[in-house]
Amino acid sequence: MFKKVVATVKENSKIAAGIYKMIIACGDADIRHFVPGQFADIAVPGHAELLLRRPISISAVNPDNNTAALIYQIQGKGTDIFSRLTPQTKIDAIMPVGRGFYLTAREKTVFLVGGGVGIAPLLSVTQKWPSKTYEAFLGYKGRDYAYCLDDFENACGKVIVTSDDGTLGEKGFVTDALGRRLIEAKPDIVLACGPVPMLRALKDILSPFGVPAQVSMEQRMCCGFGACATCVCGVDHGEGLEYKKVCIEGPVFDLFEVVL
Ligand code: FES
Repeated sequence: MFKKVVATVKENSKIAAGIYKMIIACGDADIRHFVPGQFADIAVPGHAELLLRRPISISAVNPDNNTAALIYQIQGKGTDIFSRLTPQTKIDAIMPVGRGFYLTAREKTVFLVGGGVGIAPLLSVTQKWPSKTYEAFLGYKGRDYAYCLDDFENACGKVIVTSDDGTLGEKGFVTDALGRRLIEAKPDIVLACGPVPMLRALKDILSPFGVPAQVSMEQRMCCGFGACATCVCGVDHGEGLEYKKVCIEGPVFDLFEVVL
């Protein structure tokens, strides 16, 4: 269950072009039961005029000292302010929010597919379920935007990297690289996070292979904890369209049920 807490910045540094990693001490939030895909909703400190909290991905947690690693991209004024926060700064956070990915004993081989800043939450999957066999498919804009590559190389048996401009790995879409790999090997499940066009392409590519998939939606949010309904998306479990709040009923949904 999420909690509103006063967290403390421990470290905050740039890890790629426009992308930062912030380690926070989570205060009274108990992150022992953190589920990959859950996120932190952070208020912009010292700027009461910026009313909206920013949903930030959690890429790893350390239950021993109750810290979490957050990865975010500068996308506007709020995240730009985050990038300048120094150690010991207190921040108002609601965390961990949402329903994350779930794996059972049945899924032994897992393909992780991420694009851009959507790569960040997939790292925590490998931490939560270390006994699975992973392959990662990571799509970056280019070499300068790549982050956490070493972490994925350590956690996954195979890592395939693509970039939009060809400066790192294969040039092109990460979903095309996945499509080529699926001809050789089929996982028990795919877990993905990235922009909607990437998720649409993923759905098209996976459909003929019959591989199940869960996706974490990067939806615009206002309150971030279920109070405003600005984040709704359509989901169809086979009994007609329902509307779900991505912040608390997601962000993770079945790829073949969520409306993209
Ligand atoms: Fe307000 Fe989801 S962002 S309900």
